Amino acid sequence: MSLLSVDNLSVTFSTNDGPVRAVNGLSFALDPGEALAVVGESGSGKSQTAFAIMGLLAKNGRAEGSVRFEEQEILGLPERKMNKIRAEQIAMIFQDPMSSLNPYMRIGDQMTEVLTLHQGIGKKEARTEAARMLDAVKMPDAAARLSMYPHEFSGGMRQRIMIAMALLCRPKLLIADEPTTALDVTVQAQIMDLLAEIREEFDTALILITHDLGIVAEACERTIVLYGGRIMERGPTGALFEAPSHPYTLGLLQAVPRIDIDQEDLAAIPGEPPDMSRLPAGCPFAPRCPLKEPRCETVMPDLLPHDRLLRACHAEPGAVAA
Ligand SMILES: Nc1ncnc2c1ncn2[C@@H]1O[C@H](COP(=O)(O)OP(=O)(O)O)[C@@H](O)[C@H]1O
Ligand SMILES: [Mg+2]
Repeated sequence: MSLLSVDNLSVTFSTNDGPVRAVNGLSFALDPGEALAVVGESGSGKSQTAFAIMGLLAKNGRAEGSVRFEEQEILGLPERKMNKIRAEQIAMIFQDPMSSLNPYMRIGDQMTEVLTLHQGIGKKEARTEAARMLDAVKMPDAAARLSMYPHEFSGGMRQRIMIAMALLCRPKLLIADEPTTALDVTVQAQIMDLLAEIREEFDTALILITHDLGIVAEACERTIVLYGGRIMERGPTGALFEAPSHPYTLGLLQAVPRIDIDQEDLAAIPGEPPDMSRLPAGCPFAPRCPLKEPRCETVMPDLLPHDRLLRACHAEPGAVAA
């Protein structure tokens, strides 16, 4: 049984300029304990996919399709029931921990509140559990830090607190939206190691959202590549990175910073991300695609049920490799 299954999910925002189609017919499934990466440039629909799953879309947004968590449809669930799922089953951490931490509240109080409000656990026990979880995310001297305020911690430590808070209720699924983007490279690596350890210890499934393919390879078994709110390609992470079949995946890979290449020589993908209020009829990447054919502008290639699912535009894995 899948832990999460997303079917034909679309997210549309109504704006003064007309509808913005941020996510367009997305389908994927996640097994218990599995880690899935969702990658793509800024604006490709990654965060809105997560917000739709969590029932946290902005007021002008509407989600259609189906999101099932342990077989239960959760798209469009009443707020009260969704609150319960967010408190007990699916947790999310964001790029900027300060946006989710209350600056005026000691972190111990914020953490224990999660447990006393949602799980009916007594205050003393909740404090012990909060300290234990801070310890699990390798916060030095955890018990003593409970009485500190968020601003007294470094960015990396705040991100650890966020992870600890997200894990307090032992969610079965953790959605991490660019969890390390604001951090320097060393701290980034520590947080990624931590997420891997935590997954193992608590058997938590992970959806890792990132524009940084550099952190995906070790962290996630499978990867989905998003562009224009659609899946361009997906498959086991290793196979996908070794032999991309979609020109967009190749472009993303060539844009990954590497220690042996000067930053200036990084090949950013030429062209602009698509205007989501005026998506073309065919493949959204066609206007920037070096391998574009006339049909790409009119039809979106199907996802082929290979051992890897890929768009039929360049039919074999590795067909676009340089
Ligand atoms: N409240 C909103 N109203 C209109 N458009 C929105 C709103 N929120 C997000 N969008 C648009 O949805 C698209 C996808 O955004 P998002 O999922 O946040 O991208 P990313 O892949 O960078 O996380 C973007 O074009 C963004 O401008
Ligand atoms: Mg985002």
